[in-house]
Amino acid sequence: MPTIKKIGVLTGGGDAPGLNAVIRAVVKAAYNAGVEVIGLEDSFDGLIYPEKSRPLTPRDVTGILRRGGTILGTVNRGNPFAEPITTPDGTFDYAERVLEMFRRTRLDALVCIGGDGTLSISYEFSKKGIPLVGVPKTIDNDIVGTNSSFGFDTAVSFATDAIDRLHTTAEAHRRIMVVEVMGRYAGWIALHGGVAGGADVILIPEIPYDPDKVARCIRDRDDWGARFSIVVVAEGARPTGGAVSVVQEARGAQPERLGGAGMRVAKELEERTGKETRYVVLGHLQRGGQPTAFDRTLATRFGGKAVELLLEGDFGMMVANHPPDIVPVPLGDVVGRIRTVPLDYDLIHTARALGVSFGD
Ligand code: F6P
Repeated sequence: MPTIKKIGVLTGGGDAPGLNAVIRAVVKAAYNAGVEVIGLEDSFDGLIYPEKSRPLTPRDVTGILRRGGTILGTVNRGNPFAEPITTPDGTFDYAERVLEMFRRTRLDALVCIGGDGTLSISYEFSKKGIPLVGVPKTIDNDIVGTNSSFGFDTAVSFATDAIDRLHTTAEAHRRIMVVEVMGRYAGWIALHGGVAGGADVILIPEIPYDPDKVARCIRDRDDWGARFSIVVVAEGARPTGGAVSVVQEARGAQPERLGGAGMRVAKELEERTGKETRYVVLGHLQRGGQPTAFDRTLATRFGGKAVELLLEGDFGMMVANHPPDIVPVPLGDVVGRIRTVPLDYDLIHTARALGVSFGD
């Protein structure tokens, strides 16, 4: 087992509230165990370009617990192995450059914080011999092997607050208000935010919807005198037999960009009910701002556990939330798949029992 004296930490993929809390925990736990930490900027670019790395001490991370974003920066560029990388030192195969720089920087191990994309890349490097531990990050809550990832609770809290605020106008004007939330191909944010915000309709990717059935639900509400209806739509929601709404098709290694589901639902409902309808896209607001207490705590637990695993020589793992514990799970068991909302999830049953429509 190699002695761990110097580790690198990086953040990859889209930002999520809590990234700084993980960095802080890693730096403090490592420092207190006598381990030096190097912050790698812009994900694995921190190993590609020598100027993109810097030592991190507790002094560098004090006060960042509550800050959104990431002090290390991040990139989201799909599959980095696809193209050679050009630096002032020449053009290199991406993986070979990372491996060489890892050795040249005399790092003993890495903590890689990211979503499925970053964890998949990390798994490849782990197989090539870099000792590392992954930390699951995403507001989408769709990483396999962990009960939750940090960022999700903050996104849900923001969506809930937005839905609360939209009730005011919806009620005053007797309108249908449609709220599009993120989540990619999983409906976790829509389901949790929708239930917490008291939505009347929740449309998620896991349950294709019938616009006629959604319209009927709205008319039923009108019949008993409801002054408004709130419809929460996951960006990955689609009508039965239809496709997801995209604003940009996949390009090379870049995946398709979802968007437009809320606008589509608003149009479908206005046509069918004749009611005034508005839509709001919450977009990146869900990823911004301060992490909630839950996310700060989870991120801190993940960071502390990641350092513990490295010190124990437990490499190639992802830290995972299995309440009441944080446990290691092999990266190979979790990457390349997504965790969608199970159709037998009790929250779906309960929401249905309360009269929430899923449009099916
Ligand atoms: O994975 C997090 C997420 O915010 C998704 O919910 C969303 O579809 C995507 O990232 C947006 O990515 P970008 O910031 O690259 O537009």
